[in-house]
Amino acid sequence: MALANWDKKAQATFAKIMTVVPEPMQDAMKPQLISMVENKASGAKVTKEIIEKLVREDLPEPQRSVIMGALGLSDETAKPQEAEPTTQLTWEGDSENMVEKIMEVIPEMLRGAVRPKLLEFISKKAGPSGSVTEGLVVEAVQEMKPPEPFMSQIMKVLAAGSGVDLGKLDEILATYQGKQEELVNILHDVQNEYSYLPKEALGKVSEFLAVPMSTTYRVATSYQAFSLEPKKSHVVKVCDGVACHLNDADDTYNSLDQTSNGRFTLEKVRCIGCCGKEPMVMVDDQCGNSTWAKDKISKF
Ligand code: FES
Repeated sequence: MALANWDKKAQATFAKIMTVVPEPMQDAMKPQLISMVENKASGAKVTKEIIEKLVREDLPEPQRSVIMGALGLSDETAKPQEAEPTTQLTWEGDSENMVEKIMEVIPEMLRGAVRPKLLEFISKKAGPSGSVTEGLVVEAVQEMKPPEPFMSQIMKVLAAGSGVDLGKLDEILATYQGKQEELVNILHDVQNEYSYLPKEALGKVSEFLAVPMSTTYRVATSYQAFSLEPKKSHVVKVCDGVACHLNDADDTYNSLDQTSNGRFTLEKVRCIGCCGKEPMVMVDDQCGNSTWAKDKISKF
């Protein structure tokens, strides 16, 4: 790709940047970066200073830190180290090991920048308790949004060690053609198979359809029919349709919530189609009023 309107120092700076872009990403990133730089120059000759300004101001993390390191730039825009209380993280289950598995996917030259970034996302999600679960690590990766192909590779690695048997997922995907418009149908099939959408499966689905993980995640969290959490053996749905809402569905929900004690999955849903003696409740696949539901639940 010709860099006609670039001076020599700019071309050398750009070549340096490309040395830290992992090979599988170079074809995609090179034209994108050139176009970003030329937009930044707004028609003027591209100089080293313009490229450095773009790197400082416009690149997302962790790419920004990696490229700044390669160009020997100091981070003048970095926020002064706030005296944030450093929360001691408590790693539960396999969560700490998962971070190491993720790092194995990241090329060595990027690990120095990616690891602290990932830990920052994990700490933020863990909050003051500092408790890190396996699910929290997956969510931190999803929020950090590492670029492809890393996101798919990370999800694959996490799925392999998650204990979720994704063998059935291959069978489901084999019945589809890989078109992006199949996303919702695939998610329905996955939900039917596992009774929820394992986060690890979302990575595989994204890869299969060649859609960003963020899109799959957005769809998975937009529809009430989908759940990202494993369901308990009983599912109780309190209708919050108009008729039920006007008949104190909230009270029913709250009183069931107080008695659930983790014995069942409790959800609020739209009209469940058996309006009558509101507020209506579905217990597994049966529908009745709140008195009936409480009686049924007491026998779990
Ligand atoms: S509004 Fe609640 S069942 Fe229809």
